[in-house]
Amino acid sequence: MVARRSLAVLFLLTPSAAPLTSLTWNVMCPDDEYNGSWGCPLQISLCPPPSRASCTASRQDREWARLERSGVDVVMLQEATGGFFARQAPGSSYSLAASSGQCGVLVRSALAGSVTGTFNAALPSLTGCPLAPGVSLGGASFLSAHVEAGVEDMAAWFEAAAAELEKLGGPVVVGGDFNHNASEAGAPVGWRIAAPGRTAVGNGTSQHQDDWTGAFDGFFHTAGISVEGVEASTEGFMPKSVLGFGQGGEVRERSRFRASADMSALYWSEDADWGEDGDGGALVEGAGPDAEAMSDHLMVVARVEVEEELSSS
Ligand SMILES: *[C@@H]1O[C@H](CO)[C@@H](O)[C@H](O)[C@H]1NC(C)=O
Ligand SMILES: *[C@@H]1O[C@H](CO)[C@@H](O)[C@H](O)[C@H]1NC(C)=O
Ligand SMILES: *[C@@H]1O[C@H](CO)[C@@H](O)[C@H](O)[C@H]1NC(C)=O
Repeated sequence: MVARRSLAVLFLLTPSAAPLTSLTWNVMCPDDEYNGSWGCPLQISLCPPPSRASCTASRQDREWARLERSGVDVVMLQEATGGFFARQAPGSSYSLAASSGQCGVLVRSALAGSVTGTFNAALPSLTGCPLAPGVSLGGASFLSAHVEAGVEDMAAWFEAAAAELEKLGGPVVVGGDFNHNASEAGAPVGWRIAAPGRTAVGNGTSQHQDDWTGAFDGFFHTAGISVEGVEASTEGFMPKSVLGFGQGGEVRERSRFRASADMSALYWSEDADWGEDGDGGALVEGAGPDAEAMSDHLMVVARVEVEEELSSS
């Protein structure tokens, strides 16, 4: 008993230095799912109109199962609609702590009591969410953002966002779909951009309709915080352009993605040269178009560590 009591005292006196695990994921809203000009051609082809509502519900159920399995502490979502939240299971281990339009921040329910505040930040040029919702947890602010594809100067966007976020005071981490090759824009002074350095689909987290993959998804954070182990999962990935499938009224004759004939598997090839038999390439793990498809963005996870001197200020 004595040993147990002294452990409890130690726990109370020592600030938690444990990192929080976090992920950002654009879960793809149903409005974008079947847009023939730029949406996911496999989804369009595999799920004809009478079945679309049930295909969407199954896709969202797989996304929730994936989120539950991630076990992370904080989840930043984009394109999360009311219909998506309607699929959350009653026994879910997550609670929606903050939201604005289609952007939301989920916190693992076991940590909900540690959330010390929620807020919305007026970040520039967002899409699908009027403001960037956020929570204060573990000495830092965690926000979700979805940047408009039309923004021309991402370095200027990061600069303007930083000026707004600095009003919050203290460490900040924004998980987002930046809709641009985020890692290519320079971060403002005192800030960092953390995107996965390597992914199984051309080091990107999403595919542009013109076939290139870019690191659209990741974390924008204050330099005094450490965001490590940034990794992307290919599970459920739905490319926008797929060899032999229609997109914008044309059949794609060249794409870095192809599906197996039975639609159980997705493949990626760096040079889009599939050879005469139209096969080869590397299997995209967990992304079979028929039964595994989830989103046109990869889920990106990271460990966030807030330095103690910052967290105590
Ligand atoms: C598909 O997306 C384009 C570009 O955003 C938009 O102009 C068009 O209205 C959409 N079509 C449908 C059917 O939603
Ligand atoms: C992905 O990144 C790794 C490590 O930086 C690099 O070696 C590799 O060539 C990249 N692959 C592609 C397809 O760009
Ligand atoms: C985006 O970045 C990736 C590397 O992360 C690069 O291979 C690709 O060409 C870039 N795309 C554009 C359009 O800049």
